[in-house]
Amino acid sequence: MRIDNLDTPAVVIDLDRLETNIARFQAYLDRHGIANRPHIKTHKIPQIAQMQIAAGAVGITCQKLGEAEVMADAGIDDIFIPYNIIGAAKLERLTALARRVRLSVAADSAAVVAGLGNAMAGTGLELTVLVECDTGMGRCGVQTPAEAVELALLITRTSGLRFGGLMTYPSSPEIGPFMHEAVRLLRNRGIAVERVSGGGTAGMWRAHEHPEITEYRAGMYIYGDRYTLRAGAMQLEECALTIITTVVSRPTPDRGVIDGGSKTFSSDLLGLEGYGLILEYPEARIVSLSEEHGVVDFSRCSQRPVVGERVSVIPNHCCMVSNLFDEIVGIRRGNVEVVWRVAARGMVR
Ligand SMILES: Cc1ncc(COP(=O)(O)O)c(C=O)c1O
Repeated sequence: MRIDNLDTPAVVIDLDRLETNIARFQAYLDRHGIANRPHIKTHKIPQIAQMQIAAGAVGITCQKLGEAEVMADAGIDDIFIPYNIIGAAKLERLTALARRVRLSVAADSAAVVAGLGNAMAGTGLELTVLVECDTGMGRCGVQTPAEAVELALLITRTSGLRFGGLMTYPSSPEIGPFMHEAVRLLRNRGIAVERVSGGGTAGMWRAHEHPEITEYRAGMYIYGDRYTLRAGAMQLEECALTIITTVVSRPTPDRGVIDGGSKTFSSDLLGLEGYGLILEYPEARIVSLSEEHGVVDFSRCSQRPVVGERVSVIPNHCCMVSNLFDEIVGIRRGNVEVVWRVAARGMVR
């Protein structure tokens, strides 16, 4: 089937670009001796995770247990969940998963560590736990290197757990002093820091500037999107994911409406102007979305589309798009080569 025959809206992946993006970042990390542990929340597709591993990734990162379970079912056996796992229901699933794969998780408090320890008690398992450090994002994470040491000591004292190192997100230049000091303090206490896990597509080409970092978790680098373009981490001709839409209305000379809205693109703006970049009409702006309509202002365009015309959109945030579609189509030179089920979509638990 040709790309022109796909019904819209359709999410398509340029396979040549996808493969190049996977290979290029792997080569960069290899060059700098940093392990690659890509974040699969961007694609949620086991086959793409397997491509990343085949290219040299040591394992994968999943944000949620549900994603990790899907990936384990597909045979992926080394999974990091950099997320505080809380509550009996999840801890039970975590224990079951730890029996199946090499599993590591993150924790940022004694409460989380206690839950993990209780879950492992009597199982004969040893769960690897990294301490999450808040190096500037203001989300989860211990607040100081001294707190990181304290939590690491608690992990080493908790049976069923082993201290696996430190993690942070995103890897901006500011992480340096925090991670450097935390590693120094831990080593002074005789605690080995086997992994320091950084992440983020925006800072991916600067991973090597942090000598502490031993592994890197990037997600969006495989697809690219407007956010990644603005961050300067990728170029337009490297973006692999586009959404093909159809112009369904031209109610005024300036206005057009495409058949994708917030249920196609998500409402993420991420500080950008408009909800996507229309490749055929780069001066157009997707100014508003309702669930199934995208309203486009074509006033800055010298050429304008007619009803029925198909236009391709680079979304603001590719990870959100993955989570909204059951299937994603892989194309090569205009031909449909594969249709992937987004097996871990909706896995928020
Ligand atoms: C903990 C963690 N690690 C890695 C990533 C991957 O970063 P990016 O999406 O910028 O590639 C994310 C993204 O949200 C994250 O939350």
